[in-house]
Order: sequence, then C-alpha cells, then structure tokens
Amino acid sequence: MNGSSAEGQKKILLAYSGGLDTSVAIHWLKEKNSCDVVAVTIDVGQSDDLKDAMRRAKAIGASGAWVIDAKKEFADNFILPALKANALYEGKYPLGTAIARPLMVMKLVEMAKRLGCDTIAHGCTGKGNDQVRFEVSIAALAPELAILAPTRDWKMSRDEEIAYANEHGIPIPVTVDSPYSIDESLWSRAIECGVLEDPMVEPPEDVYGWTMGPSGSPDAPENVEVGFDEGKPVSINGAEMELADIVSKLNEMAGNHGIGRIDLIENRLVGIKSREIYEAPAATVLIKAHQDLESLVMTKDLLHYKKSVEQTYADLVYNGLWFSPLKIALDAFIEKTQELVSGTVKLKLFKGSAVVVGRDSPYSLYSASLSTYTKGDEFDHSAAKGFIYVWGLPLKVSSLVRARNAGGGTTNEFAVDQEPATVSK
Ligand code: ARG
Repeated sequence: MNGSSAEGQKKILLAYSGGLDTSVAIHWLKEKNSCDVVAVTIDVGQSDDLKDAMRRAKAIGASGAWVIDAKKEFADNFILPALKANALYEGKYPLGTAIARPLMVMKLVEMAKRLGCDTIAHGCTGKGNDQVRFEVSIAALAPELAILAPTRDWKMSRDEEIAYANEHGIPIPVTVDSPYSIDESLWSRAIECGVLEDPMVEPPEDVYGWTMGPSGSPDAPENVEVGFDEGKPVSINGAEMELADIVSKLNEMAGNHGIGRIDLIENRLVGIKSREIYEAPAATVLIKAHQDLESLVMTKDLLHYKKSVEQTYADLVYNGLWFSPLKIALDAFIEKTQELVSGTVKLKLFKGSAVVVGRDSPYSLYSASLSTYTKGDEFDHSAAKGFIYVWGLPLKVSSLVRARNAGGGTTNEFAVDQEPATVSK
C-alpha cells in the first residue's frame, strides 16, 4: 500500500491516547497534510476507557481506530527485564512510563507496516522525555518511517487547544477538567502539573489514584509471599499467576496499604528538573523482594558488580535507549545473573511501607553453621588470623615506610613482623 490508502490518500498513524492533545491532533493532521489519520492506542494497563477513546477518534475523523492489548507483552518483555535489573531512575522511579514507550513503538511500527502508513505521529510536547523515547525507538526499529509531532509544532496553549476543539466540534475528554497530567501503565502511575509544580507543596490526597492514604489504609499489617523463578515473580501466597496478573494484584494489595508513593525532583533528559509524583505499589514490593532474594543467592562480588550495571541500565532506559546495543548487551549479562534467583520472599505491608521479613531459596548461600554464634558454629576462627595478616599487610608496610621517613630513616629496612605489645590476639 506504500503509505497510501486505497483511494491513494496518504495515511498517518497517530499514537492516540484519547486525551486532548491527540484528539486535536487527529483533526489538525488531517487538515495540514490532507491525509487519512489512523488512531492506534496501546493498552499497557492504563485505567482509561479505551473503547470510548476509539469511538471518539472515529467521531473526530480518524479513518480507523484500533486498541491493541499489550498488557501481557508489557509485563513479560518490558517489566520483567526492568525488574531483573532492579531498575530505579535516580534510585526512586521504577520507569513505568519509560518502559511503556518502546513497547508502544514496537506495536505502532507493526501497525504502520500492516496498514501501509509511512508516517507515525505522536502527541508528546517538546519538553518531556517521551518525545525522545518515541522518536529514538522509531529510528531504531523502522528508520524508514517519517515522524510528526504536532503538539510540539503547533504552538497552541491549552486554552487555545480547547478553543480549537470547540471550533471544530472535537469532543473534549473529561480529563480536561483535571489539574493534573497523568500517565499510567501497569508498572506506575505518574502525576505532574497543578499545585505539584511547587516542589515545597505537599501533594494533596486527590493526586493519588492507586494508593490509600494513612488514614484510609488498614490498621492491621498484612503479610504477602512472592515466589520467584529465575528472577521472575511466579506466585503470590503460593498461587501461581501470570506476571501481568501478579503486578495487577500487588498494585491493589499494596496500594490498599498506601505503599509505593514516590515524590521525586527528577532530572529529565531534556535538561529540566521536574517534580514528579508516582504511585508504584507493585513495583515497590517486587523490586524490594527481588533485591532481597538476590542478596541471599548471589556471591558478594556479583551482587556488588550488578549494582553498577543496574544504575547504567536505569539511565539507558530513562533516556530512551531501550533498543540500543549497550542496553541489549546488559540484558544478556543480567539474564545470566538470574539463573539462581529462585525462591520465596515474605513482606509485611503496613501503613505505606513494605518490609521484607523473610526469604528462602534452594540456592541460598546463607549457611547457619557458618554464621551462628551458638555451639553449632563450624567457622574456623583460627583461619582469621592469617587472613587478616595478609589482608592488612599492604597497609602495615605503607604505615611503616611513612613512619621511617618521618623519623629521618635512611635505610630500606623495616621490621614488618615486629608486632607492638598492645595488639590483642
Ligand atoms: N517523568 C516521567 C518519565 O519521563 C513520567 C512522565 C509522565 N508523563 C505525564 N504526562 N505525566 O518517565
């Protein structure tokens, strides 16, 4: 079809969210490009009414409107690698928006090819990270496609957009009344704008949609056990489930206990500091549990080395480089580290906190007979003396050399093994 509809009209595929920007974009793109616009919405677990969004897209003039349910793929191929990497941008944000964009692009590119579109349009503004993630991912997967970003180009204020919508009979989504800009996926809910733009203002309760405040959450703690198989969460309280269902269930359970509220002054890729509020109940619980299980089964050097990889990984994902060769190579490293990350982690959920209170694994490196202080102790205490002698030897030599020089010594001789009488054995 080569970028043209049956009637020979050029076709643009629009990544449609159902919000004001992309609703106006359907009309604007058609008018400016005299083309067909196909609206495609990718379902990654956002709570919007996507059927209604589809109907609105058609009403505004889209020649086709599609919703693609990608929740399972999102969980298995995007949440899972991020979880295995314990990926937290700036140590706090589990990247729910950032990992959804490359999946959306995968699906949009597939649809563009299927429907014969030679252009993908998105509704990102010019000051966010998502424009970068969309466009870099399109460049990686389908460099031949053209990209349009009407919201970035049209220079309309929000009020002007509403006026444009009214003028052209575009139904205005109900979310227009909300003072907040919200982005949801199974992995997190991000809230910006309104009073949150003052970093000193405490977020009012009405910004939260997934988590209960302290007064509404249960007064009794609840324990939950998460089962892992090679780094993948496979069960809750012994009941096996698909990952997407585990994430949904934990969003509910932990959200009810007020877990996963995050308030972050975030460094955007485009150079701006922004104040972001997130809700990520399941991500908070699963990352904590996963980190804890890793600390049980991994050797110290692997565990410590992996931490540095995790930091790089989170930065790459945040910065729109999901499909980059470095990120893909790090995935291979991380995958290898997960071979023995199987077992169960027990957490206590209570009033906004999830605390790991127990862990168990067939690959546990914890040895009771080595760590105990009781009679069963099998650790060879006498081996410690020689170990400490060798471990501390470089420091001892350097200290002796410094002392000799300070004392005006001239020979190269010093007595390493001459121990001061006060050293306790
Ligand atoms: N700052 C986050 C990120 O770049 C979330 C952005 C969410 N977008 C929104 N419209 N609220 O990943």
